[in-house]
Amino acid sequence: MRLVNSLTTMQRLALRWRRRGLRVGLVPTMGSLHAGHLSLVRQARRRVGPAGRVVVSLYVNPTQFAPHEDFAGYPRELEEDRRRCRAAGVDVLWVPADAEMYPGGPSGGPSTWVSEENLSRRMEGRARPTHFRGVATVVTKLFNVVLPTVAVFGAKDYQQAAVVRRLTRDLNFPIEVVVAPTVREPDGLAMSSRNRYLSPAEREQATVLWQAIEHVQRRVAAARRSLRSSQLAAEVRRLIQARPSVRLDYVEFFAPETLQPAPQVSPGTHMALAVWVGRTRLIDNARLEERR
Ligand code: PAJ
Repeated sequence: MRLVNSLTTMQRLALRWRRRGLRVGLVPTMGSLHAGHLSLVRQARRRVGPAGRVVVSLYVNPTQFAPHEDFAGYPRELEEDRRRCRAAGVDVLWVPADAEMYPGGPSGGPSTWVSEENLSRRMEGRARPTHFRGVATVVTKLFNVVLPTVAVFGAKDYQQAAVVRRLTRDLNFPIEVVVAPTVREPDGLAMSSRNRYLSPAEREQATVLWQAIEHVQRRVAAARRSLRSSQLAAEVRRLIQARPSVRLDYVEFFAPETLQPAPQVSPGTHMALAVWVGRTRLIDNARLEERR
């Protein structure tokens, strides 16, 4: 496995691969890699084959964090990540520097942005108004440098994956966007680099995200007709209120493609929620199924 820092080196490699007609899979990450990230690497390998190239980008992107968010404290563990990538069969781990990613300076940010203006507005976009502009901009930059055939994202960040799909279409990137299933801990908590912020007591309480999803799954599977989303939201709110250190940010029911709110919930409707567990913000989502 090759560790690349320079953006220009990455660009040259990508152009060389392109000339040779190799398939390239890209897995964008912010590091502190866990089994969820590594499942995306396996997907990328499956898509490009043994002769293809798999690139993991590791960049804690400053422009997707608001000033009061956890950019400075975001976990960084390059040595471990390097080992994890090597063991997972990654060809290139690309760790760009701020000065090359944002030549205008990290504080001022770029003056050219990529901004998806429909799917970005609700849910995470309402709670974090500049977040998806930062994500869309950095993903576009990663695509432009790595020139991947396939890019793999996780369903854990469902709205992010929808925004990336949309920008890929809107900007005519010749890239297949793959969305891989959420990898969970044995008790259902979705794996996340941010889980390591949790104290043991908070970690226990965080399972309420999955319990809320399971509760709604059971309700939907047992119902003979559609349920009112306001009713289900009230039930989720009650579940969460029973946990003293958890605060609900939002719970939403929506159409899986358009992300438009669904007043009635039935199999196929999607559910997403965000909670604060102490000072840590966690998100989760699921497609509601017919039968369990
Ligand atoms: P990060 O949070 O590091 O996540 C990188 C990728 O891993 C994302 O596509 C995310 O959805 C996926 N992922 C995270 N947890 C997962 C889990 N438990 N199961 C499956 N996939 C999971 O998302 C970002 O970084 C950034 O916004 C990024 C896209 C890199 C742009 O900066």
